[in-house]
Amino acid sequence: MKEQARAKARQLALEFVQRGDATGWFEELYTQAQGNEQAIHWADMEVNPNLGEWLDHRNIQGKGKLALVVGCGLGDDAEELARRGFEVVAFDIAPTAIAWCRKRFPHSPVTYVVADVLEPPSAWRGSFDFVLEAYTLQVLPAAVRSKAIASIAGLLTKEGTLLVICRGRSPEEPQGDLPWPLTTEELNLFKSAGLQQVQFEDYFDQEEPPKRRFRVEYQRA
Ligand SMILES: C[S@@+](CC[C@H](N)C(=O)[O-])C[C@H]1O[C@@H](n2cnc3c(N)ncnc32)[C@H](O)[C@@H]1O
Repeated sequence: MKEQARAKARQLALEFVQRGDATGWFEELYTQAQGNEQAIHWADMEVNPNLGEWLDHRNIQGKGKLALVVGCGLGDDAEELARRGFEVVAFDIAPTAIAWCRKRFPHSPVTYVVADVLEPPSAWRGSFDFVLEAYTLQVLPAAVRSKAIASIAGLLTKEGTLLVICRGRSPEEPQGDLPWPLTTEELNLFKSAGLQQVQFEDYFDQEEPPKRRFRVEYQRA
């Protein structure tokens, strides 16, 4: 079922992106899923292990800190950050995803919001102590990634931390099918946007088959 769901997402993405709409297919996919998470191939319904492991390893405590989750999907990473004491705002461009989060976690302390990372609310600028971007950049076409990266970088407070988790590739490797892995050159745009790279990990995860991931921590320079 998940493989079928992935194929469908790729087809939808192709149709929308080809007609110049980089993000319209997300809402379409969530709507067509009709509440069945099997139709959303990235929905694992549990915290991303690449995030959980990082939080454990760094012994991150969220008390007194405000976190933002970019492209939160069905909300598991946002809930995990809330569980670790962060005050959390989580947003997604797809209204159906946000409604789904609210339905899944009716008593959640997380504020779930519909918003576009390419045009975030201006009040969010410079406001978040911790920003998580996991797997959204890799489903945005390269043409809009630089705008998304500049926007994400602008959301951090002066002492803020950004964690990016994405598929990774070397520049000579073809981009392939969605999700489109990022190169280190693309990630360097975070540095151009005023952030300092604190830690860069390039590894194969525990999935079957293993996927090459970049997990990168930034702070405001
Ligand atoms: C591949 S999914 C990953 C979801 C979640 N981060 C996870 O790891 O399960 C990418 C998510 O980003 C959302 N998204 C795509 N473009 C976006 C944008 N411009 N602004 C906000 N969210 C966006 C999609 O609706 C989708 O939920």
